[in-house]
Amino acid sequence: MTEPFSILLIGSGGREHALAWAIAKSPLCARLFIAPGNPGTAQHGENRPDLPVSDHAAVAAFCKAEKVGLVVVGPEAPLVAGLVDDLQAAGIPAFGPTKAAAQLEGSKGFTKDLCAERGIPTAAFARFTELEPALAYLSARGAPIVVKADGLAAGKGVTVAETLPEAEAAVRAILDGSEGGALVIEECLFGEEASFFALCDGTRAVPIGTAQDHKRVHDGDRGPNTGGMGAYSPASIVTPAIAEAVMTRIIAPTLEGMAAKGTPFSGILYAGLMLTSEGPKLIEYNTRFGDPEAQVLMPRLTGDLVPALLAAAKGDLSGVDIGFDPHRAALTVVMAAQGYPGAVRRGTEIRGAEAAGAEGIVVFQAGTRRDGERLLADGGRVLAVTALGASVREAKDRAYAAVRRIDWPDGFFRTDIGGREVAREEAASGD
Ligand code: AMP
Ligand code: GLY
Repeated sequence: MTEPFSILLIGSGGREHALAWAIAKSPLCARLFIAPGNPGTAQHGENRPDLPVSDHAAVAAFCKAEKVGLVVVGPEAPLVAGLVDDLQAAGIPAFGPTKAAAQLEGSKGFTKDLCAERGIPTAAFARFTELEPALAYLSARGAPIVVKADGLAAGKGVTVAETLPEAEAAVRAILDGSEGGALVIEECLFGEEASFFALCDGTRAVPIGTAQDHKRVHDGDRGPNTGGMGAYSPASIVTPAIAEAVMTRIIAPTLEGMAAKGTPFSGILYAGLMLTSEGPKLIEYNTRFGDPEAQVLMPRLTGDLVPALLAAAKGDLSGVDIGFDPHRAALTVVMAAQGYPGAVRRGTEIRGAEAAGAEGIVVFQAGTRRDGERLLADGGRVLAVTALGASVREAKDRAYAAVRRIDWPDGFFRTDIGGREVAREEAASGD
């Protein structure tokens, strides 16, 4: 038996509150630190806003001093900056991919090349760094077509262009910059999107759930893209047959390809999928849990998260028993500050957030801060109100009932999270 040990979680969003909530429940977690953390994570451990996460030597020194036995990295930026490499070099087990393996998220071009090498189903594509060939390719292909900046763009680097002029403007915006840029132009895929999560140890992968995100800011999938306005899990549109296809045709060849390059992938592989008439196709990879998808995956887990994360960090997931309850659905509604995804007002008071939590309901916090007893909004996405249920419909009803108990006049939320899934459930039950 492993003795309980200290754990350091990196990040400060709703995803990290959900991870802290799951980690703190583990009998293996002796002490949980969160750097920097938020008022939500402070309910489950000790926030360390004083620890400079971008100073990897300082993080390693902290881990040695506090005898941290596992570091869990929530967001992508520290992964791409090589935090996991530096911690592992210092002998500290760290969950998440190395800098080289995080290119699966950090570089769209890298991922597309891997797909081509390994026959992974994805949209047909070409990569460009020069304006003229890119424009010529656009004219040859025609619209609709998709233009993506190559690099981390926080979800803002993608244009699904309905017309050629729109596509050309997107190409110019990326390539005209003084630095010069790189882009991927790809075929527009049609279908429904879903997210698929696999826990990986470099060679093995264990599926840990499906979800559907709601990226647009307004009801009916209108308005600009956001980090995600709500999610539910499981996504029944990912049938067991589709999940099997994703594991064998997408996840497994990705792990093989990464290992063959000498950059094995360990951590969370989050596949953004388009479920097309030709089967599931990879839109993109993220190399971390989604936000707000973590807020619906964590409450559905039946096993202990900590030994699974530790096993992945140590490169041996064999024998790891982490499951999720197929009969338990979860749904989360993001409450955001007016103006999000643009500029928002900070410091408005939120009342009743903690009291809205109840059996089967958790109010995860993202952009919040405390002022004495008061809870204040301090960011774009502020709360993720999450409920469990026997069906998505039940989870949805309970989550929205909890949202209505929260008194925050400056906040807003989508009213149709999970709507498509509820319609599917109703059709299946003949309602
Ligand atoms: P990404 O940042 O790659 O996740 O792209 C953002 C969104 O753009 C995705 O969630 C899709 O809705 C859309 N998208 C990206 N690539 C394609 C594609 N090849 N065909 C259609 N839609 C796409
Ligand atoms: N919710 C989308 C993401 O985490 O990338």
